[in-house]
Amino acid sequence: MLKAREIIDIYISFFEKRGHKRIENSPLIPENDPTTLFTSSGMQPLIPYLLGEPHPLGKRLTNVQNCFRAQDIDEVGDNRHTTFFRMLGNWSLGDYFKSEQIPWFFEFLTKGLGLPAEKLYISVFNGYENIPRDNLSENIWQELFDNEGVDISDRIFYYGVDKNWWSRSGTPKDMPIGEPGGPDSEVFFDLGTEHDKKFGEKCHINCECGRFLEIGNSVFMEYKKTENGFEKLSKANVDFGGGLERLLAALENKSDIFQTSLFLPIIKTIENETAKKYGDYKKEIRIIIDHFIASTFIAASNVIPSNKEQGYILRRLIRRGLDNFYKLGGKEIMPIMRSIAGQYIDTDPELEEKFENVKNTILQEEEIYRTTREKARVLIEKKYKTGDELKGISKISSEDAFLLYSTHGLSPTQIRSLGYEFNEQEFAKKMEEHQKLSRAGAEKKFKGGLADNSTMTVKYHTATHLLHAALRKILGNHVEQKGSNITSERLRFDFSHPEKLTEEQIKKIENLINEKINDNLPIAFEAMDKEKALKSGALGFFIAKYADKVNVYTIGDFSKEVCGGPHVDFTGKLKRFSIIKQENIGHGARRIYGKLEN
Ligand code: SER
Repeated sequence: MLKAREIIDIYISFFEKRGHKRIENSPLIPENDPTTLFTSSGMQPLIPYLLGEPHPLGKRLTNVQNCFRAQDIDEVGDNRHTTFFRMLGNWSLGDYFKSEQIPWFFEFLTKGLGLPAEKLYISVFNGYENIPRDNLSENIWQELFDNEGVDISDRIFYYGVDKNWWSRSGTPKDMPIGEPGGPDSEVFFDLGTEHDKKFGEKCHINCECGRFLEIGNSVFMEYKKTENGFEKLSKANVDFGGGLERLLAALENKSDIFQTSLFLPIIKTIENETAKKYGDYKKEIRIIIDHFIASTFIAASNVIPSNKEQGYILRRLIRRGLDNFYKLGGKEIMPIMRSIAGQYIDTDPELEEKFENVKNTILQEEEIYRTTREKARVLIEKKYKTGDELKGISKISSEDAFLLYSTHGLSPTQIRSLGYEFNEQEFAKKMEEHQKLSRAGAEKKFKGGLADNSTMTVKYHTATHLLHAALRKILGNHVEQKGSNITSERLRFDFSHPEKLTEEQIKKIENLINEKINDNLPIAFEAMDKEKALKSGALGFFIAKYADKVNVYTIGDFSKEVCGGPHVDFTGKLKRFSIIKQENIGHGARRIYGKLEN
């Protein structure tokens, strides 16, 4: 039986044989994309190239990308949803299109992996406004199945934008101006389980009962949203993504992805630690597995649990995972963490060296969570105390439940797990109002950073290179990049340096950068062999793991870095740079926030 690692190898070599270059797995926390907290699909780091920038490795790319989808947290618990997963991807940047992509994917599934064509179902796009129904994809699929002697007439379905359209922000009406997207064609695997009428009278490929597993999605990304509807992009692209864990389930013929060879050893460890059986507590055990896998990868990206952004999501995952683990009687989370690392080290060997850090992050948060729970108990007991006696409380008002939620970050399940009951409907109402407000905030953030503003983001990316070079010139060559985060409003740069920068050093750094901006230096890139790039003195602390060729960007003779781009063409476009804040972020590293004049 093929293991996850072998599926990846077969997939990558299949597409390499067809002229694709492997690109690295991008960081789970995007470095230069202000629009999102996590990398949630393989295409995300490729946006500039899908919009038309030339990619240094050419027009055919492939990879396996670690992805995290926070929006799926509440779906976890069924037979197929996870927040963390690996996406197999291949892209055509204005090169091949439907007539090549669809037959290749079919060949990979049926010949590469040996999945039976009789178990595959297909969906294609039904059309929307000026974008036509996708008859070509249907004809291609039809022919492929005909050649295999499989009758597909009742297994190919048309859907509209709700199901067969893909963009980072969802359906056309949710896309901001400038965002690329397009119709897609999805492949489903029939797990053959019985339909559950709870999900509707009749089963269909998009039914939630779990019989059909979506295993791959070919997006024909050839449109861009404009003020006046959709326009064609300068090039028609393909963006394919397939879920590794789901392909494994199809291959092992498991109607529950958690019962594949990837997760079974983790289930066994949880069963041992809790003395409960998976069959009796599927939902809880699935949540424990998913949330601690996701926490492992997020903590390995140096995120610390907090009440903000990625830190908030990590906190939520750890606490929800712990709630379910404690509920089953579990006490020690480390055996579960070790079992997870053991299953993933094969594909993500860096987990070995990062495990100590991950372990500390999880254990510290567990400790904080214990204290929080204790404080919450005291808060409630004080409030409900009668006379001088502290009473064991079991019923609290929905206001107090919400107070606990807003002051201690406890979810309804967490509040219940403390032993308190409350009116859940009233609580849900309050929660809905609260979420409406935070959604409005999130949408604002999303719109604020997208394609229409991307020129600013690109400028900040170039400014980051100038800053990196300036820091090394002024402070010394011990300065190494530790992290970078860019929004359309500012840059943030983490680097190794043991002490606070003096006013004078800050001035010198700013002056040096502004001098290079005034010199209007050209920015150029060259694709080079990885070894040659490093020998030539190019900085490359996040150098691509798999690519033998990398892109080296130079800014005059001032800066030379391995990087994926994009950048402005001349430094003069940056106008003026200033450092607005510095922070100590521990472990001998500092953080600088910088701003450009608009
Ligand atoms: N971007 C598409 C998806 O995430 C295909 O890669 O499904």
